[in-house]
Amino acid sequence: MKKTMIVLALIAGTSLYGKTVDAYINQLAAEAKQQNSAFQGFSAQRGKDIYFSKHIGKRGKEVSCASCHTDNLRQGGENIFTGKKIKPLSPSVNPKRFTDVKKVKKWLRRNFKDVYKREGTAQEKGDVLLFMRSN
Ligand code: HEC
Repeated sequence: MKKTMIVLALIAGTSLYGKTVDAYINQLAAEAKQQNSAFQGFSAQRGKDIYFSKHIGKRGKEVSCASCHTDNLRQGGENIFTGKKIKPLSPSVNPKRFTDVKKVKKWLRRNFKDVYKREGTAQEKGDVLLFMRSN
């Protein structure tokens, strides 16, 4: 009996691990719908605009997400403020990406502030996540 419980807990644990970012995206979709009843789902095209559009961000510098993560998500980038190397964002070359929901939330919050000087809305976060995950 005890053994079965442990096995069941392990199975639940592994499937949760892979699903947390998906669960987060579903949660963002619910929030987006609440904020805008016309919301029809996330769009990788809008996400692409969010990723590439330039804004006067941190330290008065004109930046976009691509400033640090580059135009090609399969390539490594560099933090333009600290010079630290950044591994590629694309899960196709870096399977660790978008597996840790805490990390995803933390960096979306921080990086939206770097570029947009505010937090992203639920819709913006979902759009840009969809774009990044599919590139
Ligand atoms: C000033 C440089 C900089 C800018 C601009 C920037 N990022 Fe980042 N980003 C980082 C760094 C540094 C990390 C953390 C190191 C790492 O994960 O390799 C990171 C990590 C992330 C992660 C975590 C991914 C994961 O699951 O591992 C996401 C998501 C992300 N950035 C999205 C964005 C988006 C969207 C934008 C534009 C709104 C953006 N970043 C702009 C530097 C930047």
